[in-house]
Amino acid sequence: MIDREVFERIAEEFGTPVYVYGERYIQRQLRLLAESITYQPKKILYAVKANFNPYILEIFKKAGVGIDAVSPGEIALALKVGFSPKDILFTGNNITDEEMDFAVEKGVLLNIDSLSRLEKFGKKYPGYEVCVRINPDVGAGHHDHCITGGPKSKFGIWYSEVEEIKRIAESHRLKIVGIHQHIGSQILEVEKFLIAMEVLLRVAPSFLDLEFIDFGGGLGVPYRPEENLLAVKELGQKMSEGFKDFCRKYGRELTLVIEPGRYLVAESAFLLTKVNTVKRNPDGRVFVGVDSGFNHLIRPAMYGSFHPITNISNLGRKKEKVDVVGNLCESGDKFAEDREIRQAREGDLILIGVAGAYGYSMSSNYNLRPRPAEVLVKPGGILQLIRERETIEEIIGGV
Ligand code: LLP
Repeated sequence: MIDREVFERIAEEFGTPVYVYGERYIQRQLRLLAESITYQPKKILYAVKANFNPYILEIFKKAGVGIDAVSPGEIALALKVGFSPKDILFTGNNITDEEMDFAVEKGVLLNIDSLSRLEKFGKKYPGYEVCVRINPDVGAGHHDHCITGGPKSKFGIWYSEVEEIKRIAESHRLKIVGIHQHIGSQILEVEKFLIAMEVLLRVAPSFLDLEFIDFGGGLGVPYRPEENLLAVKELGQKMSEGFKDFCRKYGRELTLVIEPGRYLVAESAFLLTKVNTVKRNPDGRVFVGVDSGFNHLIRPAMYGSFHPITNISNLGRKKEKVDVVGNLCESGDKFAEDREIRQAREGDLILIGVAGAYGYSMSSNYNLRPRPAEVLVKPGGILQLIRERETIEEIIGGV
């Protein structure tokens, strides 16, 4: 846990709102995950979409982790940070020819998720290596929006269309070196991963040139205090055993790939905010208005997600039920409703936790409010400003 004094110092030095990351949390999650997968060779690809701060990418690069990119922008950033094109997989959905060409020009392997794109890729790049994304008809996740497998999902090529994939590949001499799936996000049950894994391993023997199988990301973390941890040791062990078994039958040792985003970064960060206004309505409802909003952390407004909230000022005060709200002109701009926190006063510092994944990366300039700064707490307590606070001039620039 980062000490309260550190947050106070950060608020003082860098202002609020500010995302505060603890490097130790990222290292811990990486270690837990890497140790849980006993199978070798294995590769962890970090899903950049969860958090694209270059300093955070740098931590992963140093640890030998690769990159799961979903857009030319993410590819460009990974290359700029110094990742080798060989360590990047481009999983595009519904992409253009230009985006396909961009990845090929950069030497990045494409993970193709429709038959029509595979056909276009083969026509333009016959003989190339490629990965294909399969929809295993298994989906899971914390919200409908975050389920990426099954009949309602736009992702992947349906698992029963293997013959069609092979026909296209053969007609253009494409070498399918990898197959992939990603069934959803914030999954806490080991079983879900294993069921999907079984489907993918059932179709895998149809592909003779495989070098790796990518089982996607989706590993969940606890947001609520009472929420269970994902049994990552059990997951890693069962995946390793299943994969080893498969490789023996397949006749070759393939690389086991996973591509987590949230698991690696979610718990590393807090959105540190300050109370602007406390409003006590006659009916008893209390609104604690902080200097941020869903333009900085959209998960509560978008998915109804729970994020832990702590008032780190006024430690001696009693707790009360309040709505923690932002400063945007929408009623849905709430971080929490009826949440028990220590009684807040204007000027108090409020921490919103588990904010490292899909926090800053989903932020916007809605209401023309600048994005916050980002600060990294390095081992030894060293503070590093890893992104400047945006200014109004920057966001209205060019007007
Ligand atoms: N691989 C692919 C192909 C993905 O689409 C995703 C996430 C990941 C890996 C990483 O998933 P993770 O390990 O982070 O669960 N904005 C939502 C989450 C959307 C996830 C989209 N895809 C949220 O805030 O909950």
